[in-house]
Amino acid sequence: MIVAIDGPAGAGKSSVARGLAARLGIGYLDTGAMYRALTLLAARRDVDPDDGASLASLARDHPVTFLDSSAGRRVCVDGEDVTDAIRAPEISASVSVVATHRDVRAVMVSAQRRALSSGDWVVEGRDIGSNVCPGADVKIFLTASDRERARRRRGELAAWGIVGDESEVLGDLRWRDRLDSEREQDPLVVPEDAVVIDSTALPLDEVVATIARVVGDMTAAARE
Ligand code: DC
Repeated sequence: MIVAIDGPAGAGKSSVARGLAARLGIGYLDTGAMYRALTLLAARRDVDPDDGASLASLARDHPVTFLDSSAGRRVCVDGEDVTDAIRAPEISASVSVVATHRDVRAVMVSAQRRALSSGDWVVEGRDIGSNVCPGADVKIFLTASDRERARRRRGELAAWGIVGDESEVLGDLRWRDRLDSEREQDPLVVPEDAVVIDSTALPLDEVVATIARVVGDMTAAARE
């Protein structure tokens, strides 16, 4: 079974996907972490975020792996734990540019499909229901108001000791939304058969419970 969760930055996808996977006792794949890890590698090696061919070969040569530890799910590249480093504000600022390239996406999408080829998964990203897993059993499009997403983003920045100005944070989010939604290759779209959930006023556990109900209904319908 594949549960695909797509949506814009700050909609709460990661927390929801993690919570849902734990509740259902199945795997969890964060595809955004893969683009972030590549962006970190590129920054360290001075690879231009506009150079799609070099980025794609970097992605091919340095696959991202995930490791479960007592500190939770860790993201690793070349054996190094980069879980925290990929959340740095400078990575968030350029990852949407890195993710626009066709060659980069081809490497990432095939790695994702390989990872998802067996077992049951909750997988989150921007193009999961529309492109990576068009046959997903359940497709969710998770969203929230711009203001709420900016509020959550300011919370993330605070964890890095950065006090984000509200209108600046909102502007950044909208810029990333535009890059993700207007790119030529696999843009962020609401998949035709997705259940749309607005998390603006919903606590995390309610969103998880709602999706778990959708999954339960789908499983029951498939048995009939
Ligand atoms: O969900 P996130 O903020 O960690 O994602 C980081 C970036 O990666 C985001 O700007 C869009 C891109 N991304 C993508 O293009 N396709 C995906 N399936 C997942 C993320």
